[in-house]
Amino acid sequence: MGQESVLALLLQQSGQYLSGETMSQQLGVSRTAIWKSIAQLKEQGYEIDSVKNKGYALLKSPDRLDKVVISQGFAQSPIGGEILCLPTIDSTNNEVKRLAMAGAKSGLVVTAEEQTQGKGRRGRQFHSPPDTGLYMSVLLRPQCTVETLTPLTAWVAVAVAEGIAACASVDVGIKWTNDLLLGGKKLSGILTELALETQTNFVEYVVIGIGINVNHQKCQFPLDLQDISTSLYEETGEKLCRNRLCRSIISALNRMISSFPQGKEDYLEKYRQRCLTLGQDVFVLRGGQKQEAKALEIDDEFRLLVSYPQGTQEFLSSGDVSVRGKFGYI
Ligand code: BTN
Repeated sequence: MGQESVLALLLQQSGQYLSGETMSQQLGVSRTAIWKSIAQLKEQGYEIDSVKNKGYALLKSPDRLDKVVISQGFAQSPIGGEILCLPTIDSTNNEVKRLAMAGAKSGLVVTAEEQTQGKGRRGRQFHSPPDTGLYMSVLLRPQCTVETLTPLTAWVAVAVAEGIAACASVDVGIKWTNDLLLGGKKLSGILTELALETQTNFVEYVVIGIGINVNHQKCQFPLDLQDISTSLYEETGEKLCRNRLCRSIISALNRMISSFPQGKEDYLEKYRQRCLTLGQDVFVLRGGQKQEAKALEIDDEFRLLVSYPQGTQEFLSSGDVSVRGKFGYI
């Protein structure tokens, strides 16, 4: 805990110097304890400058997801008051489910440097190599029925797109329902899972899993994904601090959850603006069947209206079907 508190104080200084004396007073520990914590932080890769009569300044943090760095300012927020950053795990969604069943509180965030069994929708894998991506899951315990939560994943897509855009200055699109795209390729996926109370239709907990390709190089994707997946690094040419991105996503999720469900018009409008599926020729995939269709509009329940070549129309819900572009990933 000692070094975490020292790190938190240095982070609050935003690169300005803070004396060892002030830190020891604020934390109620000796100057020697502060000095030891600084030495431990340096060993872990934090670049900390020390200047006589001025104190210590944090110049650079290591490229590793860090709960002290990420959690700054979220103590009272619905999401991010408690954060767990793991080196490796099967799936952050699985870990959050295990913690939820053990009684974890709403708002918990779990991140991992690597997932050995990262999960996508419909039993697919989510490629999660070490130290390059952002793999995070959020636990929510909303007091509502499952019907209220039907559009949640679409809201999350808007929030994650906004979180990425705020941090990396890119214009992220949405492929219905909740793949995020950049440069026509998949940048991020969202997997929402929930547990229901037996007998009632009430939700016990929800897990929102978000995977973002951040600093991957093209060669780090498996061959079959190289033409359809991309990363922020591939699109911008710049490496991004994953702690900063994670904070930006949590801020956007907090804004979203504070407006859910009363801010529906706003999120619907934002969703429609970002939705790149609209106007596209697509294949509707359902239970092994593939139908050609044209994507027309998003209705007020975030369903996709499509028209079929024979002239009929259908509102698609994300639980029943998925959609692939006829001429590309979109
Ligand atoms: C998809 O593309 O179909 C959804 C991908 C969701 C991936 C994220 S990564 C964090 C969380 N843990 C998982 O195992 N999956 C989600």
